[in-house]
Amino acid sequence: MATEQTLSMIKPDAVARNLLGRVTARTEGIGLQVVAARMLRMDRTRAEQFYAVHQQRSFFEELVKFMASGPILAQVLEGDEAIQRYRELMGATFPCDAEEGTLRGDFREHKDVDPLYNIVHGSDSLENARVEIEFFFSPAEIHSRSD
Ligand code: RTP
Ligand code: MG
Repeated sequence: MATEQTLSMIKPDAVARNLLGRVTARTEGIGLQVVAARMLRMDRTRAEQFYAVHQQRSFFEELVKFMASGPILAQVLEGDEAIQRYRELMGATFPCDAEEGTLRGDFREHKDVDPLYNIVHGSDSLENARVEIEFFFSPAEIHSRSD
């Protein structure tokens, strides 16, 4: 299996709900290691840049507003097949569709919660992981086990 790094964001809804520790414990529980972390608040411009691929989508404005509405915890997670395995741990994009045993399923507030408020982000490909990690972290801030 290939060791990979992926970018996780614990989103403003989860930070506000005091879920940082519980979400991170679940991540560590599947053997992914936090090798970089920073709590920060994106301004509108930064959030627009991060989600530029979604610029044409109907939810873009709302998404940017939400992601700039409070602090997030950005983390680099490292481990075997980290990208795919973290996506599986996250669960379906819409919390109402997310299964038990996933972060979005287990930590959703109620069944019909707005799909924006889905607790976590995780990179969806090797290339996006590389770009997203660079968006938040310099190489010196990443403490890979392989260093
Ligand atoms: P993410 O990028 O945050 O890891 O989530 P994802 O791949 O599962 O979802 P994506 O399609 O990339 O959408 C990015 C984020 O936009 C919000 N969203 N809202 N109202 C809607 O229909 C809608 N669809 C997506 C979610 O916060 C999603 O995580
Ligand atoms: Mg996505």
